[in-house]
Amino acid sequence: MGANPNVSRRTFLTWYMAGLMTATLVAGLAPILVYIWPPAPAGEKLGDVTVTPDAPLSTLQNGDAISFKAPQNSGFIELDGGGANSPGGRTYGGFAVMSGGLIRFFAITCSHLGCSVAFNASAKRFECPCHGSRFNLQGQVIHGPALFPLSHLHVTESGNDLKVYGFTDQPA
Ligand code: FES
Repeated sequence: MGANPNVSRRTFLTWYMAGLMTATLVAGLAPILVYIWPPAPAGEKLGDVTVTPDAPLSTLQNGDAISFKAPQNSGFIELDGGGANSPGGRTYGGFAVMSGGLIRFFAITCSHLGCSVAFNASAKRFECPCHGSRFNLQGQVIHGPALFPLSHLHVTESGNDLKVYGFTDQPA
């Protein structure tokens, strides 16, 4: 039983180098992928959380917002953000906002230090009760101290309900 005579030294080295490069690439990418899509902590299940908004989205007018909350033992995952918000961050409420005929979904969490923002319907903006940050209908900062916009949420409509990408605590 000797070495396979059909495998040349060149072929062996080619496969060896390819394997080494693949392993290096995977080792380098894994932490980045985990940062972008962090695994659920133990006892949590990631997936769509079904919520009923405070009013049907069909009633949403341009310049208006409708809020929704996560059910008990559930929450939503922020898609982006900065400051107190981050991709993969947790939040427990959100808003559907219509502007320019487009509906956007934002997390309720202020990017400054994490208080819950409220919608001011007459001023058509979000206001944070803690330190006075304000955000426009596109979620952008119009008054500090917040430096970063509101985080987006991933939402799909399901009849009168919404399916918001989030997490549910699993009983131990
Ligand atoms: S937490 Fe919102 S302004 Fe400070």
